[in-house]
Amino acid sequence: MANSLFRTKKIESILAEGSDDSHGGGGLKRVLTMRDLTFFGIAAILGAGSFSSLGGAVFHGGPGVVILFIITAIACAFTAFCYSEFASRIPVAGSAYTYAYASFGELFAWIIGWALIMEYSIGNIYVAYSWSDYFTSFLDKTGDILKINLHIPEYLSTSYMEAKHAIADGSTNAAVLSAWNNSPVVGGLRIIFDLPALIINLLITYLVYRGIKESRNFSNVMVVLKLIVVALIIIVGGYLVFSNGLTVNWTPANDEGVKSFMPNGFSGVMAAVSGVFFAYIGFDAVSVLAEESKNPQRDLPKGMILSLVICTIVYILLTLVLTGAVNYRSFDGVGDPLAFIFEKQNLNVGWMQFFVSIAAVVAMTSVLLVFQMGQPRIWMSMSRDGLLPPVFQKIHPKFKTPSFSTIVTGLVVGVPILFTDKTFVLDFTSIATLFAFVLVCGGVLLIPRREKEQGKFHIPFINGQFIFPLIVAGAIVMAQLLSKNYFADIFSFDFSGNEDYVKGKISFMDAATPNISLIIFWLSAIILSIVTFIKKYSLIPLMGLITCMYLLTGMTKSNWTWFLAWLVIGVIFYFLYGYKKSKLAIIEAAMQESGTRF
Ligand code: ALA
Repeated sequence: MANSLFRTKKIESILAEGSDDSHGGGGLKRVLTMRDLTFFGIAAILGAGSFSSLGGAVFHGGPGVVILFIITAIACAFTAFCYSEFASRIPVAGSAYTYAYASFGELFAWIIGWALIMEYSIGNIYVAYSWSDYFTSFLDKTGDILKINLHIPEYLSTSYMEAKHAIADGSTNAAVLSAWNNSPVVGGLRIIFDLPALIINLLITYLVYRGIKESRNFSNVMVVLKLIVVALIIIVGGYLVFSNGLTVNWTPANDEGVKSFMPNGFSGVMAAVSGVFFAYIGFDAVSVLAEESKNPQRDLPKGMILSLVICTIVYILLTLVLTGAVNYRSFDGVGDPLAFIFEKQNLNVGWMQFFVSIAAVVAMTSVLLVFQMGQPRIWMSMSRDGLLPPVFQKIHPKFKTPSFSTIVTGLVVGVPILFTDKTFVLDFTSIATLFAFVLVCGGVLLIPRREKEQGKFHIPFINGQFIFPLIVAGAIVMAQLLSKNYFADIFSFDFSGNEDYVKGKISFMDAATPNISLIIFWLSAIILSIVTFIKKYSLIPLMGLITCMYLLTGMTKSNWTWFLAWLVIGVIFYFLYGYKKSKLAIIEAAMQESGTRF
């Protein structure tokens, strides 16, 4: 049984099933160029993370969040190299799922495919909620200009759970309170749901169902538009920060009155990890388009890395503009931070508020589009391998799109919009995606090295034998030098200084989770150094692995609990269906029957 769980797919057989010269597997059309792929990357990356979750991130970490953006960019860049290596070796749809099948084997492949539902579908719920926030505020502003009422009632533009939590927490947020208090009540149930989020999901599902070419043109136009407006925010906002002498906001005073770039320390910065990481999710989505790209081995890696570089620059500049424009504490509960800085009490540029809400709607529409295209393609690959029923690989005869999977994706995004909220889906998406990244980087370490081939991407091999252990040792020394009690604090479980714990607001496990995560992280780093010293692993995937693992240390206990529960459900599904029905299982059974050893 153990062997069956780790049965791997041969790269040659994945390729044979995947594609021919002009068509990808299953008859998908090869139409995408490198420019299209880069645009797709930007379309997927730049969205709710910058337009929405950036506010919460900055509120936790202050201007120092820039450091987290840089750390996360480094982690993502290493991971992008790993995705590129895999994408160049296995240029078929399926992304990390397909890569795991070739390296770790079937069970891990299934687990990754399962975790990617979080990234692609659940992530889109967060984007749909944020889209709705900006869309309703765009309607309000347009209504003000045209002097007509375009206001959508709060109970039709707020999620039920958000309103419920706000009431339970004694929130003073007027919009959410209005949603609760003014909602119609049917059979004792308050009718509160996010209608614009549902409608945009429906529209996007339809567009993706209709086909890649139409979606591509639509997406490219949106990317150009959002880049123009983001550039405008940086130029106008940046100019006002300097001309109004607001650069002092980059070193705000903390509660003790000490001025610092990181007013809440590094732990405050790390508390922003879900939001910051979410902003980067998307560069990997490019890899699911392998079967629709003209020259995947050359163009996928370039598209992925280029889009990542462009977005990193944008994020750093946006964070500086945001934290320069107003004191970081002002972002408490602000869901539209990029429009907020131009409000009357802040930089006071009315027309920019209007432009920003248009750009946000456009930016998030393109994110929705890319992820809604990605999810069905992953399911299609899983179905081809027999891990999902055959109907998931059904291609529409006219539109040449995975029609059934596209409709199911629409449902998986749409139905939870009725009973989840933003915070929950943001954390869930980030932890699952980081987990997938860890496995992709680890997977590259497991596949055999190969000779360089002209025109194909290769991760440059840098022997990590000495360098990696030295980097880990250097990091240990640095951590100890920067904070004398760093390791003593991690290994001590004395929470008498933790106010939330002392007041009984959080449990022992909640208080202990950061310590436990860090202990596991440092132990893993040391073990990995020893294995690398023996096996001479390649440095770039190692760095991807370790940096993504570090980001995982920022996740809370409740993130882990939900994520592990999700994985357990996934494993149960696997044993009920995929374990027996997968193509490899059938081959294995046939071989055993004929007396051949697998
Ligand atoms: N990175 C994507 C966004 O920020 C998911 O919307």
